[in-house]
Amino acid sequence: MALAGRNIVVAVSGGIAAYKACELVRLLVQEGAAVQVIMTANAQQFVAPLTLQTLSGRPVATDTFSLTQESEIGHIRLADQAHAIVIAPATANVLAKMAAGLADDLLSTVLLATRAPIVVAPAMNVHMWEHPATRSNLATLRERGVAVVGPASGSLACGYEGAGRLADPSEIVEAVETVLAPQDLRGHRIVVSAGPTREALDPVRYLTNHSSGKMGFAIARVARRRGAEVTLVHGPVEVPVPPGVTAVPVTTALEMQRELARAFASATALVMAAAVADYRPREAASQKLKRRGAPLATLALAQNPDVVRGLARRKGRRVVIGFAAETGGGEREARRKLVEKGLDLIVLNDVTAPGAEFGADTNVVRLLDRAGGDVSLPVLPKTEVASRILDWLAARKPARRT
Ligand code: PMT
Repeated sequence: MALAGRNIVVAVSGGIAAYKACELVRLLVQEGAAVQVIMTANAQQFVAPLTLQTLSGRPVATDTFSLTQESEIGHIRLADQAHAIVIAPATANVLAKMAAGLADDLLSTVLLATRAPIVVAPAMNVHMWEHPATRSNLATLRERGVAVVGPASGSLACGYEGAGRLADPSEIVEAVETVLAPQDLRGHRIVVSAGPTREALDPVRYLTNHSSGKMGFAIARVARRRGAEVTLVHGPVEVPVPPGVTAVPVTTALEMQRELARAFASATALVMAAAVADYRPREAASQKLKRRGAPLATLALAQNPDVVRGLARRKGRRVVIGFAAETGGGEREARRKLVEKGLDLIVLNDVTAPGAEFGADTNVVRLLDRAGGDVSLPVLPKTEVASRILDWLAARKPARRT
């Protein structure tokens, strides 16, 4: 519920993509936001206000001069109460009106009156999108601090191929969360590791663990929202890469070590959430191992490097955060890892505790730092756990880019 307590105005203008605003409103409500929808007259030709009213749970605002709406809503109150305004889809016409500062209907009046951050998600015909007038209006809006998400490319409703499709609603939600997030990590370059590694036994089998990557991906997502440049070095996972994050996929521990070393060279901090395999088969067979009539008595394993320990050794003023995945408490082990690996903070999670299992959307962690800090958190969504870890980092004021 990252948007709990937030008033979000969703403005829908008249394009075929207006129907996708329904999914956007649903996602925002799911994140806990109070959503007020504004529809232009043209938008109402594509989607009935009743649909958006039902999804948002409140009457849709359509008319500046409606006596009912003005007495119950009031366009200035709408503008003042919004924590953020998102226009999806934003037509070329709406972008032009915004750039020119026109206020000739409810939406343009609210946009001129508000001091809230604005996100626009353009959607239109590719030629309209590429027109110099639209490009110049977009540039003006960007200069004024308006956040732009999309458009995506593909086949358009008008029959053309190219840029002009409304961004995915989940990306638009991400953009809203970004404009609302504190920008306290701006100027920082954070490297995050996530997911498992896979160590091949033969061409078809490997050793691995249950890490889904969700914890590390949540850290990357929230760090990006808070203004950091983020490189995410991750093992094989199914989780989508958060927008704006540079992803570096790897498979083995040795690959992860190489890519982390590369990214860490210009980083200000490393957050090591990956579950790196401690051992790999000493030799990966070149052919598939055959079943024999007897148990396989030994499997020779070589030790993988302790990646975070190696990086922490040469960290200088950079901050290095590690995790400790324990089974059954684990405070003593976590404290040992904090010191022996040369970490600044260790995030202890007992992966047998309810809500802290591999692959869960929640985690239960304890933050132990080198200065004696010791904070236990309840079961929280992984994005919230990520926020708390990054709060610690932001308060630490790590060295700026090296
Ligand atoms: O991916 P999820 O399903 O969301 O699950 C999240 C998680 C449980 C994987 C995550 O929260 C977590 O605990 N990650 C660290 C897992 C781990 O390897 O813990 P460890 O106690 O074995 O290692 C301690 C630290 O050393 C970790 O920061 C680890 O990344 C690092 N390490 C470990 C082994 C190794 N060879 N090199 C390392 O750098």
